[in-house]
Amino acid sequence: LDLQINTLLEIFSDVVGFGTWQASNGDVAENAVIDALKAGYFHIDTAAVYKNEESVGCGIKKSGLNRKNIFVTTKAWNDVHTYKDAKVALANSLDKLGLDYVDLYLIHWPNPLAVRNRWEERNRDVWRYFEEALEAGLVRSIGVSNFHERHLDSLLKTAKVVPHVNQIHLSPSDMQLEVVAANEKHGILTQGYSPLGTGTILEIPALVEIAQKHQKTPAQVAIRWSLQKGYNPLPKSVTTSRIISNINVFDFELTDAQIKVIEGLAGTGNVASNPDERDF
Ligand code: A2P
Repeated sequence: LDLQINTLLEIFSDVVGFGTWQASNGDVAENAVIDALKAGYFHIDTAAVYKNEESVGCGIKKSGLNRKNIFVTTKAWNDVHTYKDAKVALANSLDKLGLDYVDLYLIHWPNPLAVRNRWEERNRDVWRYFEEALEAGLVRSIGVSNFHERHLDSLLKTAKVVPHVNQIHLSPSDMQLEVVAANEKHGILTQGYSPLGTGTILEIPALVEIAQKHQKTPAQVAIRWSLQKGYNPLPKSVTTSRIISNINVFDFELTDAQIKVIEGLAGTGNVASNPDERDF
């Protein structure tokens, strides 16, 4: 992975990353990361709020892989409100992960409850630190998560670096077309968390039928859909067999007609939480 970050982000549209949301700190997250790296994932996604950065870091170390062959993402939580908070948060995440840099650092949500009336200023100040951390080599790329178009537009008014990534809730059930279009407009890579709709879409008959045609699982079809759309899916699992099968999606291709059927599933599983309504 000794590539320029832009090249790396380009190839991500054809890469399955590994999500660790709800993988509990301790053996569960550590073993999941070891399993994932063994299975061929090289992109591991965590966040300060997942409270598993220590175990993710241990899994990375125990995998025996060279650090530079692994791409690690983490995220600044909603308690990060200022430039200084961001600096402390990144230092804490690096410390917990046991790493001296992360490959991608994200603002986790655009408008935490505590700063709802000044979210623009918050994102501007936090981003200023992200840009500095990029310059200093503490992070190799920077981005955002759960941003809608208005949040991107606001950030871009003062940003010197356009976010490399916007990571959003994204599955056939929740296609977030407006956000995807905004990302494309600005050359921001769309990453999709919960590409299986957190498991809620896997028994839908139309998906099951397409999976049977390809002798694949519904999860593999959902992940394949994300890849063919050019998104970078981050399926989460702590089950070894699923970790292995979720990345085994490069030996089949969905037809245009099947993609159309899959896109008819919009709204059938869970959809993204509105960042204006809750604080996570
Ligand atoms: P588990 O971690 O217990 O294996 P998403 O990535 O959309 O958030 O979905 C994650 C959820 O889907 C988790 O509950 C995970 O369970 C489950 N899951 C992951 N991969 C598969 C699969 N191949 N088949 C069925 N369920 C899966």
